[in-house]
Amino acid sequence: MILPIVLYGDPILKKNTTHVAPDHEGLQTLIKDMFETMYAADGVGLAAPQIGQSLNIFIVDATPFQEEYPETKDLKKVFINAEIIEESGEPWYFNEGCLSFPELREDVLRKPVIKIQYFDEDFVKNEEVFDGLTARIIQHEYDHVKGKVFVDKISFLKRRLIKNKLNDIAKGKTNAKYRVKRTAK
Ligand code: NI
Repeated sequence: MILPIVLYGDPILKKNTTHVAPDHEGLQTLIKDMFETMYAADGVGLAAPQIGQSLNIFIVDATPFQEEYPETKDLKKVFINAEIIEESGEPWYFNEGCLSFPELREDVLRKPVIKIQYFDEDFVKNEEVFDGLTARIIQHEYDHVKGKVFVDKISFLKRRLIKNKLNDIAKGKTNAKYRVKRTAK
């Protein structure tokens, strides 16, 4: 089922999420719905708060990037109760977007290498190292389950410049090509 995507301005995007138990009711359905929702919106990552569930789950499918960024090959994964253990390397900029901020893109600085522990959809514990764009997509989604969004990482000055755009999104004024959940103000 394709679910509406929560827009910036909804308080759920600022909340730290709840740990997910292996017997969480409806977990597989939720994961399936998240993939359907992400694909319908042409996204490469989606976190549970973005569909209105304050749970520590995010998904990524970076394969649309694989020609330009070979490190993203086969990166289609579910991350449950993830913890980034280490981030390293010289920070680099990449122009990021987010389904909760339709039509907004900003350069964000992040470190290129991460070591992360997480449980997959079968609740098998993994520890892996990711780099480049793969790491970046994971870092962006990881921020969502920690109650942070990508505009939290841009300078105060830049944020002031996009203030009107942000206010519009928060008011539900957007031409998003996918279903969104507008927060009543
Ligand atoms: Ni996002």
